[in-house]
Amino acid sequence: MIPWHVAAARLGQGDLHPGGAEATSTLLGWLQELPEGPVLEIGPGLGLSTLRLLERGRAVEAIEPNSELARLYRQRTGVQARPLRAEELGLMHEGRYAAVLAESVLYGTDLPLVLRAIAGALQPGGGLLFSEAVWCEGTSAAEAGRLNTESDRRFGIPMASAEPWGWGDWRRMIGEAGLELVREERLGEGSPGGPTREGGWAGAVRDPAAALGMARLRWRQRGFERGEARVESWIGMARRRSRPE
Ligand SMILES: C[S@@+](CC[C@H](N)C(=O)[O-])C[C@H]1O[C@@H](n2cnc3c(N)ncnc32)[C@H](O)[C@@H]1O
Repeated sequence: MIPWHVAAARLGQGDLHPGGAEATSTLLGWLQELPEGPVLEIGPGLGLSTLRLLERGRAVEAIEPNSELARLYRQRTGVQARPLRAEELGLMHEGRYAAVLAESVLYGTDLPLVLRAIAGALQPGGGLLFSEAVWCEGTSAAEAGRLNTESDRRFGIPMASAEPWGWGDWRRMIGEAGLELVREERLGEGSPGGPTREGGWAGAVRDPAAALGMARLRWRQRGFERGEARVESWIGMARRRSRPE
């Protein structure tokens, strides 16, 4: 099975994160409050957010562990992503980045470790910008596990973190990592979002296997809405503290 996010990227669909292009636009507005300097994007997928950053004159670096996505990303943005996982961020330059952007990426990582690594990669005063799906408070470990297994089976990707972390847990872990949450916004039920589709049907004509894969994924989506009722979507900005508390 082609995982959903890979099939989407092959078809020219990006912004595969909560709130879609509109959420990214809010995050890029918040970016203005951070120092000038290079931006690191973690798990950029197709690269639509990178393109927006480049249009704004920002220098962008990226890490992308999926080689197929890294190839599509390079084709679209001209940026060569390093083949690293967020957990390996310690290998990057300490204190280099004015901002780190992660959209629908952190939930699938070793979050406490990765948040600390991001804090280390940021300049003092620099900030992490993110858009993520988070379990609703009170979701049990068994329920989170069951929904993630079901999502993985149907779409090749889990719904939210492996642990049943709610927004309160995320806030605590962000603070413990040496970051200060300065902006946070829960995206409402009806907030627009969903993938940005570029190039109409051209992607399907170019890559019929991905188009067929996506049609199968849509079929598997039927009846899975109850799972989505257990997650909520958050965007935020967390700055690196000048010195630890
Ligand atoms: C749901 S897609 C989101 C892609 C893009 N950020 C967007 O919003 O459209 C998740 C992305 O995170 C990447 N990814 C998954 N696990 C990762 C990890 N441990 N470290 C870095 N990137 C990861 C995937 O390869 C993919 O590019």
